[in-house]
Amino acid sequence: MPSASDEVRAAIVAAGGALRFDEYMRIALYGKGGFYNSGGQAGRRGDFITSPEIGPLFGAVLARWIEAEWRRMGEPDDFTIVECGAGPGTLARGVMAASPQWRHHYCAVELSERQRREHPETVRSISELPAGPLNGVVIANELLDNVPFRLAVFDGGWREVAVCVGQGDGFAEVTSAPDPKWDWLPATAPHGTRLPIQDGAAAWAASAHRLLRQGSVLAFDYCTPTTSELVGRPWREWLRTYRAQGRGEHYLAGAGTQDITAQVCIDQLPPPTEIDSQTQFLHRWGIDDLVEEGRLAWAASAARPDVKALSMRSRVRESEALLDSRGVGAFQALTWRVADAGGKRGA
Ligand SMILES: C[S@@+](CC[C@H](N)C(=O)[O-])C[C@H]1O[C@@H](n2cnc3c(N)ncnc32)[C@H](O)[C@@H]1O
Repeated sequence: MPSASDEVRAAIVAAGGALRFDEYMRIALYGKGGFYNSGGQAGRRGDFITSPEIGPLFGAVLARWIEAEWRRMGEPDDFTIVECGAGPGTLARGVMAASPQWRHHYCAVELSERQRREHPETVRSISELPAGPLNGVVIANELLDNVPFRLAVFDGGWREVAVCVGQGDGFAEVTSAPDPKWDWLPATAPHGTRLPIQDGAAAWAASAHRLLRQGSVLAFDYCTPTTSELVGRPWREWLRTYRAQGRGEHYLAGAGTQDITAQVCIDQLPPPTEIDSQTQFLHRWGIDDLVEEGRLAWAASAARPDVKALSMRSRVRESEALLDSRGVGAFQALTWRVADAGGKRGA
């Protein structure tokens, strides 16, 4: 199998000497030798911990939100849950452990074949969004930050960053005239300012919304309300790489061996119907009740604990991590609701 670096090099040649940054990122993450196809993933034994990987409590709370959506829609028999960017299927397991009535319609969408093989047998495991229209919900945790984006840099005026072959085995950057559609970028910025152009994330939100006849799209991620807030901030704060539970190297180094992610700029997405912090969302959908239930279950069986009792006790620790405002608690929950009757709104 070619390494991601070999694939990038071949793509640079095919593109005439310089590859757009989003294309570089797509190969580095999702090419045959890309990070997510060669062992990279979320989890304790993986490269980073996400909310579902903290434990099943996140899925249990989401199951409550999904249940409410199902009821709001009149309890349709054909209710479908589409989870996009499902990784190894941990959130699917967490949601289904709550034994919902609609569990037989769970569709886990994951680009990486290696991770799809880890999905539970009870889900329909596929590599791209299913055909619509559907009645149901589309959910995604930490997907949008991983969608390849284009990169703008301010050098007396805005330029687009592309990747070329550098010295030795490495890659370097060249710039070219920006896309004329980027006229919304701030007129001026400190020299060297970089900004992500997240058309791919916006297109995903729009297609997830289009998929639904009735229902909602819900995405959790680390977000920044407006792109202009990134102006003047060191790019390393918002364009991050991860590997083996720590920060990685420069994004042009080690293609295929590290994750590449960006803060999601909400103003580049279709306007959400609702924006909550993850903490607000989890409180609203009953995390406190579930933790209390866990405490009581543990108290009742502490003298003769079984696996179920241990898992109930772990809800206390899981909730601390899920609500931590220095971590995932500060993420945003973005909801796009499909209008109930007579058409759609939002995306
Ligand atoms: C940061 S991981 C998050 C995994 C999981 N949702 C979690 O929270 O643990 C992002 C995942 O999204 C997948 N992914 C990225 N773009 C995708 C797309 N367009 N369709 C399906 N999966 C995608 C990646 O392969 C990766 O497994």
